Amino acid sequence: MSTVVETDVLIVGSGPAGASAALALSTYGVPNIVVTRYASLADTPRAHITNQRTMEVLRDLGVEQDVIAQATPQHLMGNTTFCTSLAGEELGRVRSWGNDPLAQAEHELASPTRMCDMPQHLMEPVLVNAAVARGTRLRFETEYLSHTQDADGVTATVRDRLRGDTYEIRAQYLIGADGGRSKVATDAGLPMGGQMGVAGSINIVFEADLTRYTAHRPSTLYWVLAPGATVGGIGAGLVRCVRPWTEWLIVWGYDVAAGAPDLTTEYAESVVRKLVGDDDIPVTVKSSSAWTVNEMYAESYANGRVFCAGDAVHRHPPSNGLGSNTSIQDAYNLAWKLKLVLDGTAHPRLLDSYTAERAPIGRQIVTRANQSIRETAPIFEALDGLSPQTPEQLWANIAARKDTTEAAGKQRAELREAIAFKAYEFNAHGVDLNQRYRSGAIVPDGTPDPGFARDPELHHQPSSRPGARLPHAWITSGSRTLSTLDTVGRGRFTLLTGIGGEDWVRAAGAQEVEIATVVIGPGQEYEDPYGDWSRLSEISDAGALLVRPDGFVAFRHASAAPDAGELLTDALRSILGRA
Ligand code: FDA
Repeated sequence: MSTVVETDVLIVGSGPAGASAALALSTYGVPNIVVTRYASLADTPRAHITNQRTMEVLRDLGVEQDVIAQATPQHLMGNTTFCTSLAGEELGRVRSWGNDPLAQAEHELASPTRMCDMPQHLMEPVLVNAAVARGTRLRFETEYLSHTQDADGVTATVRDRLRGDTYEIRAQYLIGADGGRSKVATDAGLPMGGQMGVAGSINIVFEADLTRYTAHRPSTLYWVLAPGATVGGIGAGLVRCVRPWTEWLIVWGYDVAAGAPDLTTEYAESVVRKLVGDDDIPVTVKSSSAWTVNEMYAESYANGRVFCAGDAVHRHPPSNGLGSNTSIQDAYNLAWKLKLVLDGTAHPRLLDSYTAERAPIGRQIVTRANQSIRETAPIFEALDGLSPQTPEQLWANIAARKDTTEAAGKQRAELREAIAFKAYEFNAHGVDLNQRYRSGAIVPDGTPDPGFARDPELHHQPSSRPGARLPHAWITSGSRTLSTLDTVGRGRFTLLTGIGGEDWVRAAGAQEVEIATVVIGPGQEYEDPYGDWSRLSEISDAGALLVRPDGFVAFRHASAAPDAGELLTDALRSILGRA
C-alpha cells in the first residue's frame, strides 16, 4: 500500500453511466477520477438506441454533434421487421422510433433533438474523450476492490492490474457506475428487488453485406420468428444493424436452466445462417458472448456518500433501448447535485432527491423492458407457434395465413394486431420523455396532477408543473432560433418569465446561487414569434418558472408576485435542502 490519491468524486466504471457522470462533473468544474477495470472502453456495440431525452442531455454537455456525426440517423431506424429470416418471408413491420408520420410530428414537437442509433463502442469514446479534455483523470486497468466511508469522505481501495499493487483513493463522494454486477452497490448494501438470470441470451457480432435484404426496409431491428426463437432470449431472434448494412449483432436465446452453449465460431455461424437465411452471403463472425436477461432494480440508489448509477441499480433486457439512456440520465441527475453540495451552495440533503427521483424511473424501465419481451408472445400465438412443435409445423402455420379461409383471415388480423401492439417497445415516446419527479428538490405549486390525456407510455405530454421537464418550444433571439431547452442547463438554475416579470428577474439576481434569467416576449431578449411558448408555458406572461440545471422545473408561479423575492428565496432554500 502506498500513497493516497485525493479527489472530489471517484467514479468506478467508464460505461455510459460513469463516462457521462465524469463528463458532467468535469463540465461543472468538479475534480473527478474514473477507474475502470479493463484496458479499453466497450469493444462491442451493446446499447445503441439513443432517445431524445439523452440527446438533450448530450446537447447540454456539448457533445450532441459528435454523436450525430457517428450515429445512424433516425430515418434509417424505423422499419422494425418481423420475418422468418432476412431472406425469408416477411410477416409485418412496425414504423418505429418516431418514424410513423404522426409519431414523427410528436417527436418534432417534443424536443429540439432527434433520436439516433449510436452503438456503445462509439458512444463511450465521445463521452470519455470530452470528459478527459475537460479534466477527468481516467485510469484503465484499475479495479475497484472495496470502500469504507466516514463523516468526511470515502476511501476506496483499487488495484492497478498492470502492476498488481493496490492503492487508496480518498474522495468526498463515490459513484458506483460499475454495471450489472456492481460490487460498489453490493458493498454499499443497496437493497435490490426483482430477479437476475430470468432468461439466457447470446450476442453474436458479425460482418456481412446484407444490403439486399435490408436497404429497402431500413431498420435498426429485424426480428426473426424461427424454430427455437422462443427459447430464452428477448422474445424472438434479433438481427440488429450496427452499421448500415454491413455490421450486425444477433441476439439469440438459450435455455438458462441448461446453461449457455459452447460459443464456438461454428455455433455462431450456424445461428447467423439461420437468421439471415442466405448461405451464399459471406459472413465474418467477430465475437460472441453469453449474457442473461435480468429484472432487477435497487430500491435505494445511495448509502451515505456512495451513489450508484446505471446498470448497477437497474438491470433489464435491451428491449425499448433504455439501458444506456437511463444510465446517462441518472448521471446527469446526480452530477449537478454533487457540484452544488461540494461547492457549499446546497446542503447534502439535496442528494436525497437522487434516489427519490431516479429509483421510480429505474423500476419503471426494468418493468417495461421485461414486459416488452412478454408482449412478443402474441405474435407467435397468432401463428399458433408457441407450443412445442417441429419446424415444419411452424412453417405450415405461417403459410396458413395466406389461405382464403375465414380462419386465415382471423389469423392475419391477429398477427397485424400483435405486431402493431409492439409500439410499446418501439414507439414508447412517453416512456422516454414523461418523467415527472417528486422529491425535496421540487416545490409543488398546489395544482392538481393533470395526469395524462393519452397513453403515458406511448405519448409525450409536455407540462411545466414542478417535477416535469421544461417543455420545448422554438423561440428566437435576434436572428437565432433556439429551443427553450437551450436557455437552461450548463450547470446552473434558470428563471423564465415574460413581460411584467421584472420582480422575478430582480429576485433571481438577488439570490446567492447563480440564476440565469430568460425573459420571453415582444421586444425582449427572447421572442415567441410562433406563440408556442405561450401555449405551452402554463403561466401568464408575468409568472415564472425556476428550472434546475438538469432542465426540470423546480418551482412555478403562475402570475406576477409582489413578494417574488421571498417566494424565490423560500423555494431555493427548499430545493437546496436548506429549509
Ligand atoms: P456498463 O456495464 O456499460 O459499464 C460498467 C463499467 O464498470 C465498465 O467500464 C467496467 O469496466 C467497469 N467496472 C465493472 N466492475 C469494475 C470494478 N470492480 N472496478 C473498476 N471498474 C469496473 N443494452 C442494449 O440496450 N442493447 C444491447 O444489445 C445490449 N447488449 C449488451 C451486451 C453486453 C455483452 C452487455 C454487457 C450489455 C449489453 N447491453 C445492451 C446493456 C448496456 O450495455 C447497459 O445497459 C449499459 O452499458 C449500462 O451502462 P453502465 O455504465 O451502467 O454499465
